[in-house]
Amino acid sequence: MKTNIEAAEGKLGILIPGLGAVATTLIAGVEAVKKGIAQPIGSLTQMGNIRLGKRTENRFPKVKDFVPLAALNDIVFGGWDVYSDNVYEAAMKAKVLEAGLLNAIKAELEAVVPMKAAFDKNYAKNLVGTNIKAGTRYELTNAVMNDITSFKEKNNCSRIVLIWCGSTEIYYEASEIHESLEKFEQALINDDKRISPSMIYAYAALKLGIPFTNGAPNLTVDIPALIELAKETNTPIAGKDFKTGQTLMKTILAPGLAARSLGVKGWFSTNILGNRDGLVLDDPDNFKTKEISKLGVLEDILRPDANPELYGDLYHKIRIDYYPPHGDNKESWDNIDIFGWLGYKMQIKINFLCRDSILAAPIALDLALFSDLAKRAGMSGIQEWLSFYLKSPQTAPGLRPENDIFKQLIKLQNTLRHLMGEDLITHLGLDYYQELVDVL
Ligand SMILES: NC(=O)c1ccc[n+]([C@@H]2O[C@H](COP(=O)([O-])OP(=O)(O)OC[C@H]3O[C@@H](n4cnc5c(N)ncnc54)[C@H](O)[C@@H]3O)[C@@H](O)[C@H]2O)c1
Repeated sequence: MKTNIEAAEGKLGILIPGLGAVATTLIAGVEAVKKGIAQPIGSLTQMGNIRLGKRTENRFPKVKDFVPLAALNDIVFGGWDVYSDNVYEAAMKAKVLEAGLLNAIKAELEAVVPMKAAFDKNYAKNLVGTNIKAGTRYELTNAVMNDITSFKEKNNCSRIVLIWCGSTEIYYEASEIHESLEKFEQALINDDKRISPSMIYAYAALKLGIPFTNGAPNLTVDIPALIELAKETNTPIAGKDFKTGQTLMKTILAPGLAARSLGVKGWFSTNILGNRDGLVLDDPDNFKTKEISKLGVLEDILRPDANPELYGDLYHKIRIDYYPPHGDNKESWDNIDIFGWLGYKMQIKINFLCRDSILAAPIALDLALFSDLAKRAGMSGIQEWLSFYLKSPQTAPGLRPENDIFKQLIKLQNTLRHLMGEDLITHLGLDYYQELVDVL
């Protein structure tokens, strides 16, 4: 049965805490696509297709023509940052996109000026910006809510979504103040420093019933208090950490090795990058947050517990080094020690010269559009079907995350089919094409 989905009428405001490399690449990209001077490559919502019905039916529409998503022309961007550069200036500094492209959309980019950030330097020590709000945690939350409502009015938006593209915060774990909404709200009033800045934005959004997705590895909405708030206000949430670069490759390759029952003894991954993200990750406390997010992937796909002969001895090591000359053009190396028939050893080497924000921007766009769709479709709480985009997917408590990108894609596509009242695809086929085989 088709779900009743509210139409995507009017403008969609995408509000972004953290107008750095990823966010400016996203905004500039959407503005360039609107002008017809570039293509939204890497975005499943804009470029991807989805098979519907039986293979004999030959139905393969574009995702954006199948589900009612906001049109790119209806998007308005805004955001917050601890630096006061407008998006044109920030994009020029990030050096992801060429000046020629940025100059062609200069007016649109200059119009996006960051609002003052809800910030606490203890969460990202290497940042020195001054575009910062003053106040207690409680006051900051109210100020962010005011920012959101006045942005919505001023820009005549019918809907808003938030997506965290801020720096990775230092490593922290959930504590008792994160356990329930009541405790969290009391901690806000007490100005408890265990509430991270990203949680302030998340709380403000969810309180207003606005979807929130998290592109960084910090916990943010992955705490019981904010999951509770999301359910209470019927709001979708998703996190954590955009799946780009090296982890994208890992979740493509590891399922293939596991599918062929090939053993993996070691996986050494190292990266060098020189953007502001790299600078923040140069602090060991911030790196730890990223490391934990990246480490879980292989274990979840290979399941050493269920397959000790093949994966029981797996040694997984990850390094990230800050190397300014590379800027946003991250370079990663993977050495993978595998073994096959009778235990014979083999090696795979990957050297990926990627562009971090070029891979992350379309993910941010899709997460924003899909979280808006989810809200209009009446879905709330953790949106596991968006795991496809995330390195460390948030799941219902007690469930293992699914990190295999192919299973994640099937889940995403089946969710869309389900929403639109189409048959789910099992790839069995025997129920309808056996007769074609028998004819031969
Ligand atoms: N680029 C990628 O491929 C990729 C992949 C996965 C995850 N991420 C994550 O996405 C986030 C953004 O990455 P980036 O490359 O754009 O980093 P970036 O450093 O260029 O941008 C982050 C911006 O967030 C701002 N910021 C920090 N704390 C803030 C706060 N409390 N409020 C408002 N602004 C704040 C910083 O000033 C900075 O401008 C990072 O957390 C990164 O780890 C990026």
